Amino acid sequence: MNYRRCGDSGLLLPEISLGFWHNFGHVDDFQESRKIMRRAFDRGITHFDLANNYGPPAGSAEENVGRILAEDFACHRDELIISTKAGHQMWNGPYGDWGSRKHLLASLDQSLRRLRLPYVDIFYSHRPDPDTRLEETMSALATAVNSGKALYVGLSKYPLKKLKKAVKILKDMGVRCLVYQPPYSILNRWPESQGILDYLLEEKIGCVVFSPLAQGLLTPKYMDCIPTDSRAGRAEGFLQEDQVAAEREKIRALGDLAAAQGMSINHMAINWSLRHPAVTSSIIGARTVAQLADSINALEAPELNEGILAAIDDIAPPSKSKHAEG
Ligand SMILES: NC(=O)c1ccc[n+]([C@@H]2O[C@H](COP(=O)([O-])OP(=O)(O)OC[C@H]3O[C@@H](n4cnc5c(N)ncnc54)[C@H](OP(=O)(O)O)[C@@H]3O)[C@@H](O)[C@H]2O)c1
Repeated sequence: MNYRRCGDSGLLLPEISLGFWHNFGHVDDFQESRKIMRRAFDRGITHFDLANNYGPPAGSAEENVGRILAEDFACHRDELIISTKAGHQMWNGPYGDWGSRKHLLASLDQSLRRLRLPYVDIFYSHRPDPDTRLEETMSALATAVNSGKALYVGLSKYPLKKLKKAVKILKDMGVRCLVYQPPYSILNRWPESQGILDYLLEEKIGCVVFSPLAQGLLTPKYMDCIPTDSRAGRAEGFLQEDQVAAEREKIRALGDLAAAQGMSINHMAINWSLRHPAVTSSIIGARTVAQLADSINALEAPELNEGILAAIDDIAPPSKSKHAEG
């Protein structure tokens, strides 16, 4: 595993990070989740990405990871970067969602309890809140750092204008935005088309991108059908059948392109997500140990040359149509 510097900070992150949005909830097989996490660490993945609401049910991914951390990783805590987030719907009532100081700080305390940790390494505002002043949301992030409950803070899915404002507010509060987390894949070039990647590079802020496989679309599985055990086939999955149908033509063309280079579409997709100089790490998901191993093996695939990159642009041109939700 190679480790890249997160912006101009002191923190190194692995090129591939592991996310717990799916496959670690109480609906999933706990022993398989445990094996995935252990194998990831053995292969050099030191960054585990969570959020308050991951599961299902919401909160259960943090509970399961908390148990695995306590039982299997207790002596490895200082070798790990654990991130969590708040800002999406989590609990009932007016304080269980969005970007108020109340929501963020209460949620962070809940996350720490579920994770059985005294602090997380990175705490994110999970999404911008159109109805809360940025100063309030950023003050909660600053408090998280100043209270020692988070070592660093980050922002996820903020559009460029709000991102710039938020970074400045944090700076004025004496806290640096360590990292920004957008969706980024061959099928979703939103942060590129919005100028966000260039801004992060200029400001020397790290960038950890998510869903490089577009939730599994950029694998061979959906070329002809929707397997019942896939994210699009499972009731609790976030990927919808119509998204698969809408992208199928592109996926087949990308599959043919990858095959012509002697590589798999998923290896091409992961390496593509890491090619931009602004990108520090790419957060993958894995439902099985075999999927995890396959994704990490992408790092050994041949580099994507200019010809392949141009052919990818022809099939999936940078466009503004996709958005921050993935
Ligand atoms: N900040 C945010 O708002 C936000 C939003 C979304 C995600 N994230 C983060 O990003 C992480 C990764 O997101 P993601 O799970 O969508 O990433 P992804 O890597 O694009 O998709 C992972 C899924 O692709 C399928 N897959 C993986 N390897 C495969 C292989 N070799 N062959 C066939 N299928 C394979 C599996 O789904 P199947 O079940 O179909 O097998 C797997 O769960 C999340 O866990 C979370 O930490 C953050």
